Amino acid sequence: MTVKPPLPVLRPALPTAVALAPYLQRIDATRWYSNFGPLLHDFEVRLAELCGLPHGAVATFSNGTLALMAALHAEKMRLPEQARWDHPKAVRRRCLMPSWTFVATAHAAVQVGLHPYFVDVDAANWALSPTALRARTDLEDVAAVIVVAPFGAPVDQAAWDAFAADTGIIVLIDAAAGFDALTSVPSARPGRCLTMVSLHATKAVGIGEGGLLVSSDADLVQEARRWGNFGFDADSKAEFPATNAKISEYSAAIGLAALDLWPERRPILAELSAAYRAALSPISGLKTVPGFGQGWVSSTCNIITPLPTQDLAAGLAARGIQTRRWWNGGCKPHPAFAATPSDPLPVTDRISAAALGIPFFHDLPADAVPQVAEALADIIAGFQGAKA
Ligand SMILES: Cc1ncc(COP(=O)(O)O)c(C=O)c1O
Repeated sequence: MTVKPPLPVLRPALPTAVALAPYLQRIDATRWYSNFGPLLHDFEVRLAELCGLPHGAVATFSNGTLALMAALHAEKMRLPEQARWDHPKAVRRRCLMPSWTFVATAHAAVQVGLHPYFVDVDAANWALSPTALRARTDLEDVAAVIVVAPFGAPVDQAAWDAFAADTGIIVLIDAAAGFDALTSVPSARPGRCLTMVSLHATKAVGIGEGGLLVSSDADLVQEARRWGNFGFDADSKAEFPATNAKISEYSAAIGLAALDLWPERRPILAELSAAYRAALSPISGLKTVPGFGQGWVSSTCNIITPLPTQDLAAGLAARGIQTRRWWNGGCKPHPAFAATPSDPLPVTDRISAAALGIPFFHDLPADAVPQVAEALADIIAGFQGAKA
């Protein structure tokens, strides 16, 4: 008897060897392998164009986590010296962020010397609220806020630019999964605040490992890039302690081929999102990420249901359906951040106890959406029946 393999939760598909070949041949011809070569230039120009910005407004990094660190560094350098959080007299060292994010967000803040502090997300959109933050009375020691776009949902860039301008607090937008929202939802188009998008293999536009920063302030982006290029000035003198976070021409080749593929890929993901929306919306008690399938796409589909994640995951696994807790409960449950100071997090606790990623990728078999929806309806009905 043959056992049917489980339906995978994600099957990344980066550009094929055939699609990469013309770009690899360009590398062979120039023998330029890294350090801001012609392919990197073209990749960053195309990324900036997609964001509606000129060349220089986008810089790439070897991963999204390093891009977050580079962004915080660049913003710090804009502060007067005594106000920088690594100055002995600095008053502002706290970095407000949601616990409801992948641990990379908090890791990046710690690595640049900030003190993370977890704030609850808004139940309506699973993200930090600028209005709620403005109402706080404890902002005097806050240096920065990292806003996280939940699973690629759009972030209101204008609202956060206004918050940063009015409060003097640095705002960094972690839109790791937000490539599409950033390039196609008008209110999510990049503003002045630095925005990070991850180019990890699991993302909608992936190059294996990589990340980008974008802002309408190209000087700020280039300052971030300098941190990822040993802190070099124009004469290759290291001006401050920094690191190497460049991507090679090979990574840029994958990026160019991934952008070639994107116009074909995006409508497929949009159609799949719409199919899930239609199939899941009749299921009582089930919710997707707010706004899922409405004008933007991502590379995952995350749901919450009345069941604890492990029970739902076990029920789906028994029906041959793989799942994944993409943020694994958010930051706070991880030992690294268990002692991180925090507000009470009732919304985060509720969402993170129930959030689960279900199968989602561009070549998901045609019968998968009804199969997953049917399984979910069945498991949830059984759970509700047992409780009644
Ligand atoms: C919210 C969030 N922030 C940061 C990152 C880190 O990106 P990278 O894996 O490219 O370092 C991720 C990765 O998935 C993420 O989901």
